[in-house]
Amino acid sequence: MIPSGTNAQQASCPFSGFMQDSPMEATKGDPTGKEESPCPVSGDAGRRALDHEKKRDLLEDATDLCENGEASKPLEESAREAWRHSVRCIGRLHWQSLQVIDARSAEDTDEIFEACAEHLRQATNNGKVTPTQTVFRPWDGPEREARIWNTQLIRYAGYRLPDGSVLGDPAQVKLTELAMALGWKAPSEPGAFDVLPLIIQMGEDLAIRELSRRDILEVQIEHPEHAWLGQLKLRWHAVPAISDMILATGTEAYGCAPFNGWYMGTEIGARNFGDEKRYNLLPTVADRMGLTTSRNTLWKDHALLVLNEAVLYSFEKQGVRLVSHHQASKEFMTFRAQEEAAGRKLQADWSWIVPPLSGSTMEVFHHSFELAAQLPNLLPQRPAWETERGRKILSKFL
Ligand code: ARG
Repeated sequence: MIPSGTNAQQASCPFSGFMQDSPMEATKGDPTGKEESPCPVSGDAGRRALDHEKKRDLLEDATDLCENGEASKPLEESAREAWRHSVRCIGRLHWQSLQVIDARSAEDTDEIFEACAEHLRQATNNGKVTPTQTVFRPWDGPEREARIWNTQLIRYAGYRLPDGSVLGDPAQVKLTELAMALGWKAPSEPGAFDVLPLIIQMGEDLAIRELSRRDILEVQIEHPEHAWLGQLKLRWHAVPAISDMILATGTEAYGCAPFNGWYMGTEIGARNFGDEKRYNLLPTVADRMGLTTSRNTLWKDHALLVLNEAVLYSFEKQGVRLVSHHQASKEFMTFRAQEEAAGRKLQADWSWIVPPLSGSTMEVFHHSFELAAQLPNLLPQRPAWETERGRKILSKFL
């Protein structure tokens, strides 16, 4: 339950009264007094908050992020605080359990790759998923910039077909094209769940490496009552390890610091499987259920529910840690109480916190939250291939 670019949903916010066009619009017009103070980085109350939505490029933004003069804290402490401050994450109750792997001494793409594989082994933990972050060398200029170009360590390829449709995950079309241009050979029979290789950068070096199947735990999706659902051959990976965000501690900016929590069921059942721009499975499921889709029958709602039941059931049956949205909402309210007890004011982005299914049945829906992000934090980063130096590196390899 750590934030990612795919977690938010379109929603009409009952507190601010505006309709969000896209997840990234979620905080427009938020009246949280962000502009009040000149300090862009401090967590101190009363100072200006961070823009938590901006996709930063460390070439331009590192100085700004690292202006906090405070004596530096142990890496582990900063990483845990960064999770605690992640305004989009509903799973923050567990922030103190984050296991931090210090990989700052990794020198090249091989060492980064090996550390990523080790990250997955430790985080997967035979299904008892452990929140883990591996931290590579901090930004100190482009010469030795470490980056993982994939958005997560495990993602499924999206193949654009001649008729314009996509086989696999449409959110991964660009990365899939990049990987193939860099020499990755897709399986001879491409499927909907082919794990992408990692594209790893160190300075001007770019490497493409495939994880071992042994390091990737996946869950086959089936439904306790609808046997046909198992025949759809859906699967999902156990560990959501975000690999493209910046860990900004206030004194250092780490552009390569993959981290994971465990999944909340709706991320897979509602968003990854249900979104029209992702696997778009609601029409298929509705069809198999024999639902009427031509009228106002709430067929999407029925189909969504069945998909989400299947995800919860399958993860549980196969012994892989996952939290339901109802449980996550409860835990978030406990986290809120804990933060207040510790004298800290909880900051959260309502449109990301409220789960994408049955929102009003959960307590988080009925609260409003302040939204002033602070450092340390985990922040979005501009995709490497969209920067000038990234394009230059690519051109050497293509
Ligand atoms: N929503 C993303 C996905 O479905 C994962 C984001 C992080 N989620 C988490 N539970 N830590 O892959």
